[in-house]
Amino acid sequence: MRKWIVLPLLSLAAGPLWAAECGVVVEGSDAMQFNTKAIEVPATCKNFSVTLKHVGKLPKASMGHNWVLSLATDEAGITAAAIKAGAAADYLDAADPRIIAHTKLLGGGESDTVKFAVSKLKAGTDYAFFCSFPGHAALMKGTLTVK
Ligand code: CO
Repeated sequence: MRKWIVLPLLSLAAGPLWAAECGVVVEGSDAMQFNTKAIEVPATCKNFSVTLKHVGKLPKASMGHNWVLSLATDEAGITAAAIKAGAAADYLDAADPRIIAHTKLLGGGESDTVKFAVSKLKAGTDYAFFCSFPGHAALMKGTLTVK
């Protein structure tokens, strides 16, 4: 009588899936939208990476997108300072200490990744992510929390 051995194939996928949780891909569109409104960062991650992809076609000058992270309470101050910084600074005062992490400002078809230490964040605190291009944070914003 023959005996068949079934290999536990599912266990092979466990490693890569676990690692993938320490990062996320966010898309920004020509309709001035991010494709996500909430990001949860696992407290077990040492670092967390965010890749922003501008999936539209419009140029940076008219539909620029970046991904900026701060305390939720600092968002309004950062976006106000971004307008003062102007187009030459890609609408972000990068030296602003309230900014926890940020990508470059992108035009259609471009992407950029930012990686930050999860130790910079506290569980139970509300963080905001947003685009600092003038006017965009009204629509392009979401929450980030540590779980
Ligand atoms: Co934008």
